[in-house]
Amino acid sequence: MNPQVDKSVMTTTIALISGLVLLAAVLFMVAALLGVVGSVAPDDGSRKQAAVLERIKPVARVSFEQPKPAVAVKLSGQEVYNKVCAACHVAGTLGAPKTGAKDQWEPRFAQGLDTLVTHAVNGIRAMPAKGGDPSLTEANIRDSIVYMLGETGIKVETASAPAEAAPAPAEAAPATPQ
Ligand code: HEC
Repeated sequence: MNPQVDKSVMTTTIALISGLVLLAAVLFMVAALLGVVGSVAPDDGSRKQAAVLERIKPVARVSFEQPKPAVAVKLSGQEVYNKVCAACHVAGTLGAPKTGAKDQWEPRFAQGLDTLVTHAVNGIRAMPAKGGDPSLTEANIRDSIVYMLGETGIKVETASAPAEAAPAPAEAAPATPQ
């Protein structure tokens, strides 16, 4: 055997094996890369699925949440008075009968509570309808008039107004910190 030839065969073989190993490594990397790409693909599918679910979701849902009651309904007569009526009725602005001025309120109260409520709800002369706050209910107006009369020293028999479909008298409202 010629050792020279042996060596060259050896070198060629090593080179060939190295090449194959390298090729295998490259193929492995490509496969791994494809694997990564492949693992992304199902995600894309789930996104499409989410889109489909979004498209076919029910139009309406049954909700057992309580409908929010109008804020004004919960206000007590005093709260409504402080929020709206006091602006004019404390100082007698525009000629409003002053809270606490019995002589100004007595002739008006002589008309009867229902008339006062009607006037306050619809407005009378310089007195704007509902004191200028249309969100107030008739019950709010009645409660605040009763409160205003009470502050003036005129006792109102609230029970004498049974025609009122008021959802709740002011006293029934849970005490709100003032
Ligand atoms: C912008 C000012 C103003 C506000 C706010 C206001 N009032 Fe008056 N109010 C008046 C004036 C002015 C009069 C007198 C009207 C008249 O008789 O010429 C009056 C009169 C009244 C009367 C007597 C009506 C009558 O028949 O004699 C009542 C009751 C009354 N207001 C209730 C209320 C209540 C309740 C509120 C709050 C919800 C309120 N007012 C808010 C200005 C106001």
